[in-house]
Amino acid sequence: MKVRKAVVAAAGFGTRFLPASKSVPKEMLALLDRPLIHYAAAEAAASGIEHLIIITSRGKESMADYFDRAPDLEAALEAKGRSHLLAEVRELYERLQPAYVRQHEQLGLGHAVLSARKAVGDEPFAVFLPDDIIVSDRKPALAQMLEVFEKHQGSVVAVQSLPREDLPSYGVVDPEPVADRVTRVKGLVEKPKPEDAPSNLGIVGRYIFTPEIFDCLERTQPGSGGEIQLTDGMALLAQQQPMFAYEFEGTRFDTGNPLGMLKATVTMALQRDDMASDFREWLKGQAL
Ligand code: G1P
Repeated sequence: MKVRKAVVAAAGFGTRFLPASKSVPKEMLALLDRPLIHYAAAEAAASGIEHLIIITSRGKESMADYFDRAPDLEAALEAKGRSHLLAEVRELYERLQPAYVRQHEQLGLGHAVLSARKAVGDEPFAVFLPDDIIVSDRKPALAQMLEVFEKHQGSVVAVQSLPREDLPSYGVVDPEPVADRVTRVKGLVEKPKPEDAPSNLGIVGRYIFTPEIFDCLERTQPGSGGEIQLTDGMALLAQQQPMFAYEFEGTRFDTGNPLGMLKATVTMALQRDDMASDFREWLKGQAL
């Protein structure tokens, strides 16, 4: 069955980006000239997703404003011959028709995904954590995962090989090799101690789930940090259905903290035709 819908988890407090995220949703912080959530939407659209379901919470209305039409602004820009500036956002809006679901209580990522149950219905769907930005020369990361989903017929989670000391910040899979870059998931642990981690494959914020994940999330008890963890719901799903971990091709940035955002900014600026040469010149002059 075709994956038509993507859920974007965007209801969190963004504590790693305080104080900026106190009054600006983390997902609206700019990576160059686009907010983080734009990149998730663009990757979804480029991967063939038709509907975006954004999980949001109090004080994050600017995300809906971002994807909404802005007739006055569009008319003013058109009069100045600069309408192309908003055309990209308008195209995303028209292609994805974003819908918004409020997560009323911050009970964890698993709970956030569960709150999209009615909006998703009984079909497979993707999940994005928008602070994980993945730059790929080949296909968008989600499009790569959709190939794995179609070929192997099971839920798919993106993973990355990580240094052991970083694993306590991630969900970690217990893998069994299947094919190049693809492993079968036998189990998962959220934020293990390095010595308890079943592998060095850490979960990155892209998932494709069969709808049975929702029943599993209903049964999931609070775990790491006292939160209802998506990883724990996935561990239940992996016991009843095939689940695969996929080492995507591309570079991932964790833009949920200032240093990760800076690294993503530098890398992407060096790839942009309109700023790369000026920026490179300026960088050369810095005492590195
Ligand atoms: C979340 C997930 C974790 C995953 C990580 C990827 O953790 O719970 O399994 O590895 O995103 O970014 P968080 O970063 O919200 O603590």
